[in-house]
Amino acid sequence: MANNEELFKQIISHAKEYGFIFPSSEIYDGLSAVYDYGEYGVELKNNIKQYWWKAMVQYHENIVGIDSAIFMHPTIWKASGHVDAFNDPLIDNKDSKKRYRADVLIEDHIQKIEDKINKEVEKAKKRFENFDEDLYRKTNQRVVEYQQKIDDITARYADLMNRTDLAGLKALIEELGIVCPISGTKNWTDVRQFNLMFATQMGSVAEGADTIYLRPETAQGIFVNFLNVYKTGRMKIPFGIAQIGKAFRNEIVARQFIFRMREFEQMEMQFFVRPGEELKWFDYWKQTRIKWHQDLGIAPENYRFHDHEKLAHYANAATDIEFKFPFGFKELEGIHSRTDFDLSQHEKYSGKKLRFFDPETNESYVPYVIETSIGVDRMFLAVFSHAYTEEKLEDGSTRVVLRLPAKLAPIKAAVLPLVKKDGLPEKAREVMDMLKPYMMCQYDEKDAIGRRYRRQDAIGTPYCITIDNQTMENNTVTIRERDSMEQKRVPIKELLSDIVF
Ligand code: GAP
Repeated sequence: MANNEELFKQIISHAKEYGFIFPSSEIYDGLSAVYDYGEYGVELKNNIKQYWWKAMVQYHENIVGIDSAIFMHPTIWKASGHVDAFNDPLIDNKDSKKRYRADVLIEDHIQKIEDKINKEVEKAKKRFENFDEDLYRKTNQRVVEYQQKIDDITARYADLMNRTDLAGLKALIEELGIVCPISGTKNWTDVRQFNLMFATQMGSVAEGADTIYLRPETAQGIFVNFLNVYKTGRMKIPFGIAQIGKAFRNEIVARQFIFRMREFEQMEMQFFVRPGEELKWFDYWKQTRIKWHQDLGIAPENYRFHDHEKLAHYANAATDIEFKFPFGFKELEGIHSRTDFDLSQHEKYSGKKLRFFDPETNESYVPYVIETSIGVDRMFLAVFSHAYTEEKLEDGSTRVVLRLPAKLAPIKAAVLPLVKKDGLPEKAREVMDMLKPYMMCQYDEKDAIGRRYRRQDAIGTPYCITIDNQTMENNTVTIRERDSMEQKRVPIKELLSDIVF
């Protein structure tokens, strides 16, 4: 059984080998933390977006969608706080010239101590089983010491981050003896703030042209269209505006495949509510969003809430939905109660009133906002990594199968003539033509049927439909279900009701 690191490597290579995800610009040696989606990847990604859009826009009568531009007026990013505060603390190693996030260096150091604890716990268990009480006690003592160390570092680190004490962060890195993984030295520069927004110029000449930014989140496109949508959509509070689109962040530490990218996609929704009712709606969205995840059939123990104790100055409640990725529980989605911060800031900077007139209370006010925000790519990684399974079969062989939720699978049904003769391919084409208008299907007649089944398992196709000699006699086919590998024979005319997704 592969350990988690090996498993993750296998998942990444499976994604490439089967046309889900390719490194960007690969023939030029790639571009760090930028990826392209292949022929099956784009289908899975589109299905994720559709699943979100249906749940948010189609099922909620009071939520509408928009598609705002990536380029926006630069003052928007001043108003939102991104120009001044969308920073990560960076540090360089003078020998390797490599750049790191100071906070990540410390978090990795804490993780290493945690790994030591896990090893010691394993040892302690064995010693306990062997009745070696003395060694058991000593090992336990070490675990307690490590834990104290972690608590101490974590408390100091959190305090330094909260106070943005950059000199303190450097001092802590030095005190912990953290070395650069490349050079192995402690020759660090000072810690500096690094703004994550990509800047570019608008206009044909750079000189005198305005600096504009590639948006680091889609949310601001929603806020600045609040008034337009409220009026043209004749919206009444509470109501929401949803958007799916690209976002860009110049991440210093971009790693873990598509978990942290420099160009990625977000699915965000801002829900505008009456001031004072925001916590009730925050709770509603917490429950609604976790249900959306769990309705995919992924076991609940793979998700957990991480409520924020320390809140951003504009938020009065915040939680992350964390998912159990192969590298541990990490943020998948954020749900934030953002008060009236964003709309008030845009009122201030634009000079336009961004208020809702409430006919029930006869009052005009800046609505409060609950935001739900999830990365498409991160959701892709969650379902893809969870779906990847290596199964030992009775004959000793290994089957790699992507147990994707059927509604997200890139190809819903594969149509396979058993042999390339006796009119079977023509019959299979007829079946394809019947299914095509309703779902993505794939025709495959190459290789033995067993190999074709394996190919479909590897891309997560829930159903394989085989056309054989009996089909020619009585118009029935076999349907093989991906996970159970069970087969049943059904009349062609009933196929559409048998394929469920
Ligand atoms: N508007 C709020 C916002 O953008 P965030 O926590 O910075 O909040 C929301 O991002 C979600 O976007 C995250 O939960 C994650 O799923 C996704 N995300 C953020 N940065 C990302 C990155 N560099 N690569 C991939 N996904 C990212």
